[in-house]
This record gives sequence, structure tokens and C-alpha cells, in this order.
Amino acid sequence: MSTAIRQLQKHFVGEVSGLDLRKPLTSEQVREIQAAIDRHAVLVFRDQDITDEQQLAFALNFGERENARGGTVTRKEDYRLTSGLNDVSNLGKDGKPLPKDHRTHLFNLGNCLWHSDSSFRAIPAKYSLLSARVVNPKGGNTEFADMRAAYDALDEETKAEIEDLICEHSLMYSRGSLGFVDYSEEEKAMFKPVLQRLVRTHPAHGRKSLYLSSHAGAVVGMSVPEGRLLLRDLTEHATQPEFVYVHKWKLHDLVMWDNRQTIHRVRRYDQSQPRDMRRATVAGTEPTVQQQAAE
Ligand code: OGA
Ligand code: MN
Repeated sequence: MSTAIRQLQKHFVGEVSGLDLRKPLTSEQVREIQAAIDRHAVLVFRDQDITDEQQLAFALNFGERENARGGTVTRKEDYRLTSGLNDVSNLGKDGKPLPKDHRTHLFNLGNCLWHSDSSFRAIPAKYSLLSARVVNPKGGNTEFADMRAAYDALDEETKAEIEDLICEHSLMYSRGSLGFVDYSEEEKAMFKPVLQRLVRTHPAHGRKSLYLSSHAGAVVGMSVPEGRLLLRDLTEHATQPEFVYVHKWKLHDLVMWDNRQTIHRVRRYDQSQPRDMRRATVAGTEPTVQQQAAE
């Protein structure tokens, strides 16, 4: 069967059929998916019952694996997954939902805020590929907003105002906005803010997009409240329903997105029941701010 990509009605998102992600892709198939992700920014693959190794192998067709170090408060010895995937579940090492007051759980609730993956890293993530291994019975939809369309819809004055702005991003800003504020000295050093452009140009097609994220907590050259208000206004604009696709998970869905042109969030779900989501993350290749040195 040959690969087909269908644009979901009224949405920017592409649904891919005719591919078995358990098998290695041909170079032609890799080219097709690459062109589709550039164009749609979010791709949905249904019925992909894959292992962690197969998921990672599929992701590595599109770049290198992002080193997950530094994006969590969970100690390595407490990781549930050792396969190189990011654990986006609500589960502990024992396979059970984490207690409501568990630090990892509280920290992970930050995924309910609009964000772009790893915007808190000097070189942020390019693609994320999320696989649904256990779907939660209540809630847990993931929403994606198209930052190209949101940028295009800005008025010319706003576009000119924000063109060269630089923001500070840190996990302490996103988590802090939910009241998660206690960090060890080691964590504070690990979560030190990095700089990111507010407007990015996509290397494949040259369209501009807003680079927003709840990790952004300041705009260089502005007072903190002024900068945060600007970011809040832009995020409100960019996440209006016309720019948003809501993904309702089915078992073995895999969703791939381009963090350079979309933001996403997960909606609240039943934390007493499991939700096992596993993410392969493809590293970006350069800082968004030219002069920023790589970590
Ligand atoms: C992620 C993420 C949302 C979800 O994997 O980066 O934000 O639906 N996940 O769990
Ligand atoms: Mn995310």
C-alpha cells in the first residue's frame, strides 16, 4: 500500500495512511513524511502498535535524538523508561499512577500549559513523536495550535513590533505560573533561562511563525510585567479555535509535530487512572538566537 496524506477538514493537520511504523522506511517514504510534516506541522498516524525501539527508529529518520537530560525534576534512577523515550505518562516506576502530591506529577502538570517542547533548551527540539500506549478514560486530549497561521493573522504593526524580540525561556517560568516554585540549587542551575527569538522563519518553506511557550517568562528590553502581558496577549490570539486542532487519542495513535511551527498542551484528565504516553524527541540543529552558544 502506498503512503497517503489527507488533510483533516478545517485543520492544518495531515493524517497519514499506508505506513507500518514497525518496519524501516524507504528513502522515498522518508521524503514523503518530511515534506508532509513541513507542510502540515502535525501528522497523525493511526493503529501503530509499536515498541519503544521502533518508535525511536522511526524518529531517527528525521534527525538526531534529543538528549533528555535537564528537562525534569525526576532523578535518573527513578525513570520508568530506559529506552531513550521521554516518559509523558502519569505513572511511576511501579507502573501505577503517581500519588497526587508526588513532585514528578506536580511538575508534569506543566504540560497542560501551551508550550513548544524544549523551548527551555538553548537548542530547542525540532520534532516530537508521541505514542499512545494507554489512553485515559476521561480527558487528556492534546491540542495543537498552528503558529504560522497565528503569525499571518497579526496586524502589520504588531508584526513589526515583535519581529526582532528575544524572550527568556525556563521551566521555572512555566511551572512557577502554576505555583510550583521550590527548586534545589542544582535544579536552579539546570533550569537557567535561555534566549529564544519570538518570531521564527521555517528553514524548509520560509514561512514565519510565532515562537510562544509557557516557558517564556520575560522579553529582553522590557519590564517583566510588560513582557509577560505581550506574551499573554499573543498566546491568547494564537490559540483561538480557528488555529487549533484537538486530538482525541485512540490506542496506538502516534502524533508527530514540528515544534518550530506549533504549540501544544494536554487537557486535564483522570489522574487516578493510567495514561501512558511515550515521546521520541528529535533535536533541533541550532539556537534560534544566532549569538547564543550551544549548551
Ligand atoms: C509532550 C506533551 C502532551 C500529552 O509529549 O511533549 O506535551 O498529551 N504531551 O501528554
Ligand atoms: Mn510537550
